[in-house]
Amino acid sequence: MIIRKATFHKSSGHFKDCPKPILAEFAFIGRSNVGKSSLINMLCNNNKLALTSRSPGKTKIINHFLINEKWYLVDLPGYGYAKTSKTNREGFATLIIDYVTKRDSLVCLFVLIDSRLPLQQIDLEFMTWLGEKNVPFSIVYTKADKNTKTELARNISAIETELGKVWDELPNTFITSSEKAIGKNDVLDFIEAHLSAFPKK
Ligand code: GTP
Ligand code: MG
Repeated sequence: MIIRKATFHKSSGHFKDCPKPILAEFAFIGRSNVGKSSLINMLCNNNKLALTSRSPGKTKIINHFLINEKWYLVDLPGYGYAKTSKTNREGFATLIIDYVTKRDSLVCLFVLIDSRLPLQQIDLEFMTWLGEKNVPFSIVYTKADKNTKTELARNISAIETELGKVWDELPNTFITSSEKAIGKNDVLDFIEAHLSAFPKK
């Protein structure tokens, strides 16, 4: 899969404002600062497409990016960002819950996990909730450039051991670095293979 064209399409502060669900879409979610916006930029070869920031809580709305004029990549707000008002936090939560459970054109959700950290409680809770809601998802480990290969393998193996205690079968996983463009083809090939899942025949 080659991304020839990637353009910002729309920001939506409420689920009802999202674009009409007529094109397949793939969305990125995960804790604030895990690297969702950076990953979208890396996949699209455009560092200015999605706004990134060192300080967490940058993306507060849903952003749709139109790819090759045929499908969308979607940047979702981060969860678990404590330094915001309760009203704001509840607003993001509603937005995320509505989007994830109601978006008919969502083909696959990518849950981003920081490859340098042990499994975080909030990530486990979020993935468990996805399982309960029957939302298909894949795991994308981010910031792989910040670890040595040995540390990376050890961390991911520890996370998978934790997940294995909860699930019989582990989701698809990808190892990525937006800094070094690691995992780009793996994610794009996966998307290509699943593009035809929507609209359902
Ligand atoms: P919110 O929008 O706040 O939820 O964050 P986000 O998940 O979109 O994270 P974002 O892409 O803005 O990245 C957060 C910080 O991590 C930025 O300083 C990025 O430069 C850095 N970062 C993201 N991906 C990578 C990566 O693969 N490697 C390294 N070294 N840094 C990364
Ligand atoms: Mg962001």
